[in-house]
Amino acid sequence: MSSVALRLHRGVATLVMAITSISAAASSADVRRTGNDFLSPELRALQSDPTRNPAELWVERGRQLWHGASAGSDTARSCRHCHADGAAPAAGTGYGPSASEVARAAARFPRLQADGTRLLSLEDQIRHCRARNSPSGDTTDTDEVIALSAWLHQQAKGTPIAVQAPGDAANAQRWQQHLAQGAVAWQQRIGRYNLACVHCHDQAVGATFRGDVASPGHPTGFPVYRLQWSRPGSVERRLRACFSAVQAEMPAPGDPLLRQLELYLKVRANGMPLDGPSIRR
Ligand code: HEC
Ligand code: HEC
Repeated sequence: MSSVALRLHRGVATLVMAITSISAAASSADVRRTGNDFLSPELRALQSDPTRNPAELWVERGRQLWHGASAGSDTARSCRHCHADGAAPAAGTGYGPSASEVARAAARFPRLQADGTRLLSLEDQIRHCRARNSPSGDTTDTDEVIALSAWLHQQAKGTPIAVQAPGDAANAQRWQQHLAQGAVAWQQRIGRYNLACVHCHDQAVGATFRGDVASPGHPTGFPVYRLQWSRPGSVERRLRACFSAVQAEMPAPGDPLLRQLELYLKVRANGMPLDGPSIRR
């Protein structure tokens, strides 16, 4: 499809008209395409050159953090201390899944915390594990958290997304409710532009918004190093940017709505291989 230039700043009427006119043409677009298919040739070249790709530095930083002590205190233990190579540790020892399990974990998040109280993104899990050593004060956007996320995603590259309901019935029901709320939010018109995710990422795939070509919004390529941010960001950060783009009130980091949307996106993309970290404009 030829790209249709839409300029948000021209106002609501223009945008809505343009979207109505292209929606028919775009609705047959292949909805299973990764965001990496929508890169400009320049960004594609940058991404495939490890000596120039800025995301590589973050992956390397994450690798070092994984192997080194994760907090400053004497008792600080490295990620590897609890996630050793080889056999899985016995339950109740305080040790986590083996390193090879953790290497594929990115494909299974977000998931429900074991006590069923909330959905955890991979970045939430990393924060949680860093805080086992000593209170960390991390957010999902802290450098170390994002670097570890980049490293874990790099290791899981090529693994098909496999986000599933938990095994026990009570948690499975909670999980389904979160998923249903994510699906509703995906369709819900928001912001001054009165647009839903679906209007851009389903009905306007291939259209240009402020110089970005809209993809189907499959979350395979995260964390994404956005040149605009000069750093990598999580799904959470990207979703907040989409709220801002339609001039809707941005949910705060950690807002359950962001996790529900991430859950919906991951389930929608189940089976697609992870292909991040990647570069975005
Ligand atoms: C003191 C032990 C301990 C340390 C240190 C630790 N973890 Fe964990 N980790 C666990 C346990 C236990 C789990 C199982 C889930 C839970 O209880 O949260 C886990 C689960 C995980 C998972 C989910 C794995 C899966 O297969 O689903 C990831 C990812 C993870 N940890 C990353 C890290 C990272 C990154 C670090 C270093 C910053 C780290 N962990 C440090 C104990 C630890
Ligand atoms: C006005 C159009 C518009 C709306 C509405 C919108 N987005 Fe986006 N979104 C974009 C553009 C443009 C990009 C950057 C290009 C791309 O990757 O699709 C983007 C990027 C994304 C990405 C990253 C894709 C990648 O591979 O990097 C995700 C995920 C996403 N949006 C999800 C959402 C969700 C969820 C909503 C609803 C809360 C939403 N978007 C609402 C325009 C929109």
